Amino acid sequence: ADAFDEECDYLFKAVLIGDSGVGKSNLLSRFAKDEFRLDSKPTIGVEFAYRNIKVGDKLIKAQIWDTAGQERFRAITSSYYRGALGALLVYDITMRSSYENVSKWLVELREFGGQDMVVVLVGNKCDLDQSREVEKEEGKGYAETEGLCFMETSALKNLNVEEVFLQMITKIY
Ligand code: GTP
Ligand code: MG
Repeated sequence: ADAFDEECDYLFKAVLIGDSGVGKSNLLSRFAKDEFRLDSKPTIGVEFAYRNIKVGDKLIKAQIWDTAGQERFRAITSSYYRGALGALLVYDITMRSSYENVSKWLVELREFGGQDMVVVLVGNKCDLDQSREVEKEEGKGYAETEGLCFMETSALKNLNVEEVFLQMITKIY
């Protein structure tokens, strides 16, 4: 363990959910390692990444879990959500079906996630505005009716990635 671990004020878990191909793994690798892959493979099972962040004068260690959007590759649902304080529910602004499935992800999240979980609805791939199938106002409006935070991001262009994780983290603390 490095010095940061010993000095860390909080450790918390958050999860990424959403359809396959929306960019969950790339959002996480961008946030944790500043890496992006155009040729990334679908996730199988569950992966983790950590990042240490300072919020105010507190040192926070964020443990972010990432699983497959594809049902057959997914981790055991109950253990995936257990203890998570936050979630990023991701859709792809160029794939309408991934937005329409957000309501299904919310059903699962409300069944397995904790009561006070901070949830951010994330419209990813906002760099592909020319192929957009979901208007920003639509995503934002839906988030409001469901009581979620909302942001559009691009893992490719590194737009709002830091901000979306920080929004979740600062809402938790
Ligand atoms: P599963 O693991 O199958 O659930 O998919 P995932 O949600 O983890 O998607 P992943 O991060 O593997 O990304 C899928 C594809 O979208 C890859 O080809 C990425 O390069 C691409 N991608 C991810 N984020 C962005 C983005 O912000 N913009 C663009 N243009 N492409 C992206
Ligand atoms: Mg993935």
